[in-house]
Amino acid sequence: MLRLGNISLDVPFYQAPLSGYTDRAMRVLAHKYGAPLTYTGVILAKIALHKKAFNRLFFQPGDDEGLVGAQILGGDPDVMAEAASAFVNVGFGLIDLNFACPAPKVLRRQSGGYLLKDPETAIKIVRFVRSSVSCPLTIKLRAGFDKSQESMDKFWQICKGAIAEGVDALVIHGRSVKELYRNKGDWEVLSEAKSRFPQTTIIGSGDLMDAETIVERLKSSGLDGVIIARGAIGNPWIFNETRALWKGRPKPEIPQLTEQGEVYLKHYEMIAETRPMLKSVRYFRKFAVGYSKHHPQRKLVQADLIAAKSRDEIYAAVKKWYGVG
Ligand SMILES: Cc1cc2nc3c(=O)[nH]c(=O)nc-3n(C[C@H](O)[C@H](O)[C@H](O)COP(=O)(O)O)c2cc1C
Repeated sequence: MLRLGNISLDVPFYQAPLSGYTDRAMRVLAHKYGAPLTYTGVILAKIALHKKAFNRLFFQPGDDEGLVGAQILGGDPDVMAEAASAFVNVGFGLIDLNFACPAPKVLRRQSGGYLLKDPETAIKIVRFVRSSVSCPLTIKLRAGFDKSQESMDKFWQICKGAIAEGVDALVIHGRSVKELYRNKGDWEVLSEAKSRFPQTTIIGSGDLMDAETIVERLKSSGLDGVIIARGAIGNPWIFNETRALWKGRPKPEIPQLTEQGEVYLKHYEMIAETRPMLKSVRYFRKFAVGYSKHHPQRKLVQADLIAAKSRDEIYAAVKKWYGVG
């Protein structure tokens, strides 16, 4: 069980926010295959200030998605607070504040990972958002802006300050902002967070690519939970697999090729609901690598799926390799 404020999840893991991936389509499939909670990719908080555009957006969670949290990004405490309540009002069940994003344009705007250099503003954002929403509130941090002592001091200062302001969990990715995706995530710093703040829910992230590793990390780190990020791309089955192993059952077999093909097409069709055909085909290509990994002919399948230039060609490739569509 994983407690996030007044919400309890029956398993200690959920779908991480992944910009450009965890939109409605991926969330529906993650939910179907056992994720107890999913997240949007990061969303600019100021979007909520443009009411007309905000209400037209397609990101409001549907009934078939289960519990969905919104992750918001910004450096202005007032805007973040207003955005948080706007997201809750359209149906999101939790709010996560992004103090992690390492993208240069985000850092230039003094938000995301930049806030790890500015504990005062980061903590003020938590305070303002906390007073604007009563749903579970979490923050996502990287383990410091860089590896310097000064950076780590600021990191701990933010953790402590956010807890004092009433945040319900700290979600920590054990790489610094500067590291991007180099090196392995540091799980020792995550365990240290748990021993420094034993009363706070601490959730870890980093290099959780399969069910075995996830369960091992959950057991060895002493953390309350973990989030599944890249490991779930083109692999919604990871949630059921992790569920089974966590509960002491054998890991289920990967579904038959026909079911894999059906999921692939369903994923594409959900993406196509909100995009013109060419855009949806291009956008969907990045999922082909993950899905084809489960096929015995993965290289050939991947090449065909990626080469598809239209809806018809996607269907033809799926028919050829998965026998459905
Ligand atoms: C393509 C991509 C997009 C991501 N988008 C977000 C995001 O929108 N918000 C966020 O907090 N983290 C984001 N992350 C970070 C992940 O949530 C996660 O913390 C990180 O990938 C480490 O976990 P992993 O090594 O198991 O993938 C993103 C990561 C990737 C690879």
